[in-house]
Amino acid sequence: MTHSGLEGRVALVTGAAKGIGLAASDALARAGADVALFDLPGADMTAAVAAVAAHGRRSIAISGDVSVESDWARALGAALEAFGRLDVLVNNAGITGPVGPLVDCSVEAFDQVHAVNTRGVFLGIRTCAEALAATRGAIVNVSSISGIGGGRNTVAYTASKHAVIGMTKLAAMEFSDRGVRVNAVCPAPIVTDMTAALANQYRPEDPEGFSRDFAKGIPLGRYGQPAEVADAIVFLAGDTASFITGAALPVDGGIRAR
Ligand SMILES: NC(=O)c1ccc[n+]([C@@H]2O[C@H](COP(=O)([O-])OP(=O)(O)OC[C@H]3O[C@@H](n4cnc5c(N)ncnc54)[C@H](O)[C@@H]3O)[C@@H](O)[C@H]2O)c1
Repeated sequence: MTHSGLEGRVALVTGAAKGIGLAASDALARAGADVALFDLPGADMTAAVAAVAAHGRRSIAISGDVSVESDWARALGAALEAFGRLDVLVNNAGITGPVGPLVDCSVEAFDQVHAVNTRGVFLGIRTCAEALAATRGAIVNVSSISGIGGGRNTVAYTASKHAVIGMTKLAAMEFSDRGVRVNAVCPAPIVTDMTAALANQYRPEDPEGFSRDFAKGIPLGRYGQPAEVADAIVFLAGDTASFITGAALPVDGGIRAR
């Protein structure tokens, strides 16, 4: 059996209520970690709490907004109070913003996406750096294949996901002497509410047809599952990745190999 290196560790996952964040919380608990679940006020954390408990691990649910500095201080405080340490930070929360040409993207929409996807990751790293240095822990940021290539129609999202990879590399350098590893995963379309909503924006009259057509362009011929991203997150978070830092790992069915 592989040793994930997460037994007895503590993780904090943002956007933990559903999608990739829920799957990551589940997988981290399966690998032996207690999990602090961080999501927006009103987000239903029931599934995430149950997933962690099913592996015999403990969780706490924290309501907050990753774009708000004081919410981060509260989230870290709650995690440390409950578990006494922090080993893993998964900066997963993100939004897509509007779909459409760059010239149609409003300043408000651009700033809103960056507040969550860029500032949220920055605040997470900055807030948790000291606690992670104390455990020689790891950060996994959730970027996207939109953080590697250009694409079309999602300028704010694409810029923010490139920024996440930039911050990943910078933080990997700055924290290397304190033993904190920082990596990113770059998923292609994954079956979550986010991709369902995007399909609705691209082709409201036939969202399933849009997803089917898009999948044909993915070398493995399908969308990914949240658990497939979660497994990559657990790998990068654990001791099995002890010599990997500053990496941006595609989890994309081969899209970026083309
Ligand atoms: N689904 C995909 O195809 C895909 C592909 C590449 C990258 N990603 C990235 O993966 C991450 C998760 O995506 P998903 O598909 O699971 O999305 P999702 O919409 O299914 O879930 C996102 C979660 O984040 C939470 N969230 C949103 N804004 C928040 C905020 N300001 N503060 C705290 N929590 C907040 C939401 O409440 C929700 O629970 C995102 O960063 C996304 O950009 C997703």
